[in-house]
Amino acid sequence: MMDEVKNICCIGAGYVGGPTMAVIALKCPDLKVTVVDVSEDKIALWKSEDLSNLPIYEPGLEEIISQTRDRNLFFSTDIDSAINEAQMIFIAVNTPTKEHGVGKGMAADLKYVEQSARKIAEISTTNKIIVEKSTLPVRTAEAIQAIFKSTNRKNSFEVISNPEFLAEGTAIQDLFKSDRVIIGGDQTPSGYQAVDTLVQIYSRWIDRDKIITTNIWSSELTKLVSNAFLAQRISSINSISAICEATGADVDEVALAVGKDHRIGEKFLKTSVGFGGSCFQKDILNLVYLARSYNLNEVADYWEQVIIMNDYQRNRFADKISTSLFKTLTDKKIGLLGWAFKKGTDDSRESAAIYVADKLLADGAILHIFDPKVKTKKIINDLKFVWDKRSFSEKKINYLLKRIFIRKSSCDIIEDSHAVAILTEWEEFKNIDWESQFKKMRKPAFIFDGRNILNNNVMRDIGFKVYQLGK
Ligand code: NAD
Ligand code: UGA
Repeated sequence: MMDEVKNICCIGAGYVGGPTMAVIALKCPDLKVTVVDVSEDKIALWKSEDLSNLPIYEPGLEEIISQTRDRNLFFSTDIDSAINEAQMIFIAVNTPTKEHGVGKGMAADLKYVEQSARKIAEISTTNKIIVEKSTLPVRTAEAIQAIFKSTNRKNSFEVISNPEFLAEGTAIQDLFKSDRVIIGGDQTPSGYQAVDTLVQIYSRWIDRDKIITTNIWSSELTKLVSNAFLAQRISSINSISAICEATGADVDEVALAVGKDHRIGEKFLKTSVGFGGSCFQKDILNLVYLARSYNLNEVADYWEQVIIMNDYQRNRFADKISTSLFKTLTDKKIGLLGWAFKKGTDDSRESAAIYVADKLLADGAILHIFDPKVKTKKIINDLKFVWDKRSFSEKKINYLLKRIFIRKSSCDIIEDSHAVAILTEWEEFKNIDWESQFKKMRKPAFIFDGRNILNNNVMRDIGFKVYQLGK
């Protein structure tokens, strides 16, 4: 028998845990929601009086936090107390790609999920519904259940899956108006009851017909498949951008016309320098690993191609810069506009900008970088992470770091540069006074628009040499 849910705990106060729990607290004022994290710094930022210091930037989030925080939404590092108090516990910790051991570079690293499950098992004395909110490989619930079973406790643990589909930059509106909510559970009386308990919470603001209940493995797999399908569309249009450049077709025209077929649809057909973000690559690798582990090699190869195409697009873009600038970038100043993996977020995990920057630096360029939201420390750490993975010496890293300048405005990076590359589609880059900036650049002045946000003809009329994808 499940207990009535009055207290919810969420383990993991990141991009998913923070916004999802803020929205649950807003929509369910009678529930007490406590978000916990091992990171004291992060929790301190979630508690900061100045809401512009929240640890993540997400439009609309500050307003919800100001309404709910210390009313029925709490942030804490006291994980044990929050687990003890709660009848329902969400696990929203990070699940990065494994960096060593079995499945290295492919499988999801479940160490934080396992730590969370062990913690819950260790200290729980009352019945709990455990909700998998993190994106997990299929059949992870089995492993979590095994941990709970090993405790030999009298209290029950019911594990259900409720993957998250929010996109960064639009997280709050996505959570308010989800296309669908998926809740998967065991097909047992207690499984159905646990699923229904969560259905009741979501139905406070999501239409019942948008809440889909499934078996637990379908729910886990649906999340991986959704991300794989979205990423596949981007790789598909990016592959076509290369054909357009070779043939004289225009990728934006092709995408518009193709997308008008209602069976195909218009979304996720915008060509780009490559998709980024913490999840697309990781989740596809996870799917590929899953397929290979069942010996489904053709299936694995098929999905792996989505990643291969993404790498190709990022490399192709960087190569285009080098070849256009007379095949040498040595000591040339290149301005990079944008570092976030998309507009509307301060997140730069797996951003195409990291890989383009790395390649340009390897070719001898000096980089001046501006992003309106991503912090300097993050940009440096993103690059160091890539170099550490390749075992670069400290000397080499220090040399490369001296060739990077993080600037405070777009004008700072444009002045005196040989070329400017747009890597994130921030609106403000469209509104730069390009005519006056043109005068400050070295000539010929090159623009590489990795997001196709500028008006090609206007830029050419000003005098720029313009490269856009698929044009
Ligand atoms: P994140 O890195 O922003 O946050 C995860 C948090 O969990 C971190 O603050 C970390 O300190 C904390 N944590 C790790 N282990 C812990 C433990 N044992 N106890 C307490 N706290 C712990 O990650 P995220 O972007 O929020 O992603 C979380 C999960 O949600 C991932 O599986 C991801 O694939 C999935 N997801 C992410 C998004 C997104 O837009 N970022 C969208 C949908 C799903
Ligand atoms: C994506 C999914 O959209 C969410 O549903 C999912 O919950 C989330 O991953 C996750 O699991 O983490 P997110 O990565 O935040 O969300 O952002 P998207 O809007 O999907 O963009 C991902 C990348 O694709 C960005 O780099 C973006 O610039 C790029 N993109 C997107 C394109 O290049 N072209 C497009 O047409 C759309």
